[in-house]
Amino acid sequence: MNKIDEIISKLTLEEKAGLCSGADFWHTKSVDRLGVPSVMVSDGPHGLRKQDLTGEDPNNSIEAVCFPAACATACSFDRELMYGMGEALGEECLAEDISVILGPAVNIKRSPLCGRNFEYVSEDPYLAGELSASYINGVQSRNVGTSIKHFAANSQETARMYCSSDMTERTLREIYFPAFETAVKKSQPHTVMCSYNLINGVYSSENDWLLNKVLRDEWGFEGYVVSDWGAVNDRVKGLAAGLDLEMPASGGLNDAKIVKAVKSGELSEELLDKAVKRILTQVYRYHDNKTDGHVFDRQADHKKAADIARESIVLLKNEGALPLPSNGAKLAFIGEFAQNPRIQGGGSSHINTKNISNALESAKKLCDISYAKGFNREENDTDTALLEEAVTLCKNSDAVIIFAGLPDSFESEGYDRTHMRMPDCQNELIERACEVNDNVIVVLHNGSPVEMPWNDKVSAVLEVYLCGEATGEATADILFGNANPCGKLAETIPMKLSDTPCALTFPGRRHEYYGEGVFVGYRYYDKKEMQVRYPFGHGLSYTEFEYSDLRLSANEVSDDDILTVSVNVTNTGNCFGKEIVQLYVADKTGFAVRPLQELKGFDKVALNPGETKTVTFELDSRAFSYFNEELGSWYAPNGKYEIRIGKSSRNICLTAGLVHTTSVRLPFKAHENTVFSDFMDLPEGKEAMELLLPMISQGLLGGSHFDPKMHRGMIEGMPLRQIRSFGGISDELLQQAIDTLNRNFSKKNG
Ligand code: BGC
Repeated sequence: MNKIDEIISKLTLEEKAGLCSGADFWHTKSVDRLGVPSVMVSDGPHGLRKQDLTGEDPNNSIEAVCFPAACATACSFDRELMYGMGEALGEECLAEDISVILGPAVNIKRSPLCGRNFEYVSEDPYLAGELSASYINGVQSRNVGTSIKHFAANSQETARMYCSSDMTERTLREIYFPAFETAVKKSQPHTVMCSYNLINGVYSSENDWLLNKVLRDEWGFEGYVVSDWGAVNDRVKGLAAGLDLEMPASGGLNDAKIVKAVKSGELSEELLDKAVKRILTQVYRYHDNKTDGHVFDRQADHKKAADIARESIVLLKNEGALPLPSNGAKLAFIGEFAQNPRIQGGGSSHINTKNISNALESAKKLCDISYAKGFNREENDTDTALLEEAVTLCKNSDAVIIFAGLPDSFESEGYDRTHMRMPDCQNELIERACEVNDNVIVVLHNGSPVEMPWNDKVSAVLEVYLCGEATGEATADILFGNANPCGKLAETIPMKLSDTPCALTFPGRRHEYYGEGVFVGYRYYDKKEMQVRYPFGHGLSYTEFEYSDLRLSANEVSDDDILTVSVNVTNTGNCFGKEIVQLYVADKTGFAVRPLQELKGFDKVALNPGETKTVTFELDSRAFSYFNEELGSWYAPNGKYEIRIGKSSRNICLTAGLVHTTSVRLPFKAHENTVFSDFMDLPEGKEAMELLLPMISQGLLGGSHFDPKMHRGMIEGMPLRQIRSFGGISDELLQQAIDTLNRNFSKKNG
């Protein structure tokens, strides 16, 4: 018997139930008589929010390093970088004796209004999954656990504790699940945090299908499921559904319910044992492997935060204004964010850091800069004196760099934004600056897209997002060309709120129907052929890249094949730079309603001027598949697909076609209400068509005219039974056709 089984065999029922909830807000329980340790968990994901148990204020957390938030790091499209950030956080956890960092947070950015978008990764599930898996592998390389959250479909803050996210299974599988699925399959997080919300009417914390069937049985998750803080509705139901650990403590109330349920036979003790085993396995995994001597090196990690920030900042627009000259030109930094940048969002991810760099101070180390505050950071209304002072400075400057963004109160856990605008005082300042200076550069500090009514008037836009405590130095490095921008957007920036896929209903209260289905982010804007402010995947550099020589390993692939795609990328500009190469797959079969293209690969390459590198991707059949609900699985229809290689979702440079064939058969059982289009074009349907067609032709058209195209149009949407009326067909003939169809389809499937 192994150690954990032995402990479980000695635990009383009450002790076992007790282990399934926290000792307090941040610790698991100990069982002293058996030597079971208590371990601590702490919020992340972009730093440690470890509660300071030694301080006077219990709500305070220790001073830590604030890395860039996920809205920014996602733009790095850099798996290695995320791994490195994970490693650094793992080390910090070891130094602070933290067993699990509560992150990454991977909920899909369905609306730009979601208050927590700043800590979520992307609108695209593939990108969110890949980057999160790397982060998790980085943290867990130190034997510290992660808790990927919030599983699942927690894409709004309004009513997050009681609203049901209602959608089809296909939407869940294709959009809201894959980030979790990829993370489980590629990095096996030690824990998964279930969300507050319900999914199709069932709380995530008591959803057997979600936690037991999908997460464990299908994806192979081995760790424990922890509730989001206070997300438990019915504890006994939850335990049966696969929720192992309730956090924080319930004051013993829910533990007592578990005991009662086991005693009454409502809950099997074996099931409780399984939950305890899953929790203790992770507790001991941390406890038995942790080593001493780890230091939380705040200076070294500040430098890492700066490196990550430099890789994440996105240059959205540049008409030549950037990089800035440092040769005596009159430069004006305007806007409070230059001196007091916004580096993170509000809520449980808020890191206590004092070591914040600002762009003004960092830039002053490079050259002379004039500064005007321009507006009050936390306010909407214009302060006329500040505005006029700033406009005067604009008139007397060669270049104006306006540091704008969203106030703290606009973006936080717990509530959503109600609009996508920046404060009026900032928009007014930018407009006025453009009237008096034609070299205005806007630097943005925001956790989620804003409307940019002034976009066409300014000469450059730099999206810094919420880039952590080293924001200032990283921004200055990019502005002056000491670093070359290389981030690309992990989300679309729409023109305006009403353009967004769920603008009509977001946010729901009791029920939110995700009616746009799989058409989230670029999947929606592409299909609707809409103009966007900046597309998904967009980002500029100070150098230029050219793509050439797209090659596929085969022109035809089937279910078990791996397709290798390679493309050459050359730095054709004058300076070193990094390029994020994106691979999209487009289904051209027309079989199902699908997005025009979906991201299925990306890579970041570093290139010196004149240098060429080959980027290679491998695609399996999942890359061509959608979730077919009848089949209950992934399905890649037979037919043509296109591989698209691009600099962004709207800047596709090279394409190549291929054919995918599958031996998977969709379930087919003919009956009176089977529709003609389900079989009329398939070889298995030929015999039945031959049986029915002459009669239909006679019935519909009086036999006078026989045009196959007309037949097609008229009958494809008809159920078989309909031809009794139109075709004058007997019950016997109809049954014969149904039998023929079932015989031929079962032959094929068998
Ligand atoms: C948040 C989680 C967080 C937890 C603990 C919850 O309200 O949704 O993301 O980890 O609190 O602070």
